[in-house]
Amino acid sequence: MRMFDIIKKKRDGGTLTDAEINWFIKGYVNGDIPDYQVSALCMAIYFRGMTLEETTALTFAVRDSGKKLDFPNVNGLRVDKHSTGGVGDKTSLVIAPIVATLGVKVAKMSGRGLGHTGGTIDKLEAIPSFRTDIPLDEFQSIVNDIGIAIIGQSNDMTPADKLLYGLRDVTATIDSLPLIVSSIMGKKLAADDDCIVLDVKTGSGAFMKTVEASRELAEWMVEIGKRAGKRVCAMITDMDIPLGFSIGNSLEVIEAIETLKGNGPADLTEICIELATRMLYLAEKGTMDECRANVLRVIENGEALKTFAKMVEAQGGNKDWILAPENFPAAPYCEEIKAEKSGYIVGIDTEGYGIASLLLGAGRNTKEDVIDSTAGIILKKKFGDYVNKGDVIATMYTSNNTSFTASRKKFLESTKMGNDAPVKRPLILDIVE
Ligand code: URA
Repeated sequence: MRMFDIIKKKRDGGTLTDAEINWFIKGYVNGDIPDYQVSALCMAIYFRGMTLEETTALTFAVRDSGKKLDFPNVNGLRVDKHSTGGVGDKTSLVIAPIVATLGVKVAKMSGRGLGHTGGTIDKLEAIPSFRTDIPLDEFQSIVNDIGIAIIGQSNDMTPADKLLYGLRDVTATIDSLPLIVSSIMGKKLAADDDCIVLDVKTGSGAFMKTVEASRELAEWMVEIGKRAGKRVCAMITDMDIPLGFSIGNSLEVIEAIETLKGNGPADLTEICIELATRMLYLAEKGTMDECRANVLRVIENGEALKTFAKMVEAQGGNKDWILAPENFPAAPYCEEIKAEKSGYIVGIDTEGYGIASLLLGAGRNTKEDVIDSTAGIILKKKFGDYVNKGDVIATMYTSNNTSFTASRKKFLESTKMGNDAPVKRPLILDIVE
């Protein structure tokens, strides 16, 4: 086989065979096929697309490109939840302890922030001395002991995705349906959980901006998961508005703790209850109503928070910070953002809010950037709220007080004001089963 012929075939709208897809992924990981040829193929895929069969083959090739998580000693079903990425999305920190408290194992491998979106690993690292890089055998024994552990992606798993992702990031080929599906599902299938609940975000803060595009992404991921023998479902959820009020790593951990105590923001609480319910349902822990009632019970009686504290302790962090989040240090500098005119907040460019938070130090501009855990934004007003000129609509937090001007500018540019109260769409827009 020749890479030239594979590129030409896709460029001209042809359908690649499983053998061609497996050959190019193996060759790329081995270093036999150079970046420039794979870049050309990614661009051809971007324009020509892939069939579901091609995308399935690509997903399985990514899954099989490295080690898979092998958990022979974990008893019981393992369940995972994956979000396609959003702003203020701290759901994993809330859901995983709830589900583990109710007897379903969660051995979660999570990512770091990407562009304007946050990542669970960066959030957990806001807890001092919390280890996200524990060896797989220790990971397994924590999961067996307390039902839950969360670590970063292992370097030995899905090397094809690491290479492809880095290349797509710099060749404007991220937002291609088959490439996103194979990237996300390749990683999820390598982790080899029994059940997967996908939270496909849609709107101005998501990679997929329309419900139609998000539904197609959800349908393909669910179908490919099923082809791999997994129990999968997807929720399509709104990301036109940030989730909760806090954006930024330690701020989001604190908000997740409040939600585990039952005092969280309504939107975050609603989505966490629904995701956790579906995870339990997929793992055959009862009817949807029974699962939901159990979720509410372990929030109310504090058991889910205790499980989170145990996980933090097992992974090297100080559990007292979870039980008393006032221990988290505040950022050395904070400044308010005030409304420039009166009116309703009728539109939010949520990606812009993510970037405003990144500019304060909560995210990375380059892979090498070090995150400021205390940096971020707490929203005081959200979509649909009426504000008077001069009202505080948000507070910025940072360790670098030169970042306020750029962040405030981005935030205000991303907040659209109008005279009429806007209509809110539901938080959960669709379910794909
Ligand atoms: N998240 C991933 O892991 N991969 C993508 O391609 C997009 C979002």
